[in-house]
Amino acid sequence: MPGSNIAIKIEHLTVSYQAKAVLVDVSLDIPRGSVVGILGPNGAGKSTIIKSVMGFVPRDFGTVEVFGQPVAHARGLVAYVPQRGQIDWTFPVTVRDVVTMGRYGHRRWYQSIRAEDRDKVNHSLEAVRMTEFSDRQIGQLSGGQQQRVFMARALAQESDILLLDEPFAGVDAATERAIAGLLAGAREENKTVVVVHHDLETAAEFFDRVVLLNRRVYAYGPPREVLDPDLLSEVYGGKLRAVSWAEEDKA
Ligand SMILES: Nc1ncnc2c1ncn2[C@@H]1O[C@H](COP(=O)(O)OP(=O)(O)O)[C@@H](O)[C@H]1O
Ligand SMILES: [Mg+2]
Repeated sequence: MPGSNIAIKIEHLTVSYQAKAVLVDVSLDIPRGSVVGILGPNGAGKSTIIKSVMGFVPRDFGTVEVFGQPVAHARGLVAYVPQRGQIDWTFPVTVRDVVTMGRYGHRRWYQSIRAEDRDKVNHSLEAVRMTEFSDRQIGQLSGGQQQRVFMARALAQESDILLLDEPFAGVDAATERAIAGLLAGAREENKTVVVVHHDLETAAEFFDRVVLLNRRVYAYGPPREVLDPDLLSEVYGGKLRAVSWAEEDKA
């Protein structure tokens, strides 16, 4: 929104589930137009940070602002793609329906879909190469295709901020290219993008800045500074080896 160069401002955020703290005193300024990766081991609180920006989890302490406003007032400025496995894929809607939902914020409930909305939906489907699947039920798609449909919905929203929770996890090469292209496009349009990411290898390629998280922020800055081997072994502990084995298994 006008004025603010900080898209997302998190200050002293502490979140717990059933009295167990999962985020402790997290502070982050995410500048407008930056593409930021959040890295950290399983259970580090990465998804919880993203959900906090959406206002989906109760805070014990701290504040989260979107363009200088409390999240409750700014949710319309943010598009969110949840981590896979958190979506009910049996819900009987088509690919086009899902993407069209991204346009609901642009019209009143009594207005029907306009040509402009339809164009935007088509354009978004094209951007993730899912046009030919427009009439398919979402439950009948592969995981990577489902991921792309949700990306298209986020694109159709035309919001200033995109929050993507592990978009690259377990996707095929075509989907990986589509998502990388989407990140590049978002960067060109000066959007702010926050991506939970599990792959240390590609982090420097995709992100201007990375956050190294494990309940608290260990580092936040340009990938070259943050992805320091000593720091990584501190954050991942013994788990880093396990991470690289898992990568080998996949290859
Ligand atoms: N709704 C919930 N209720 C209880 N515990 C949760 C809930 N969501 C997440 N957790 C726990 O909080 C911690 C952080 O979760 P999450 O933010 O999903 O981590 P990450 O995305 O980094 O893997 C984990 O230990 C997880 O098991
Ligand atoms: Mg997660």
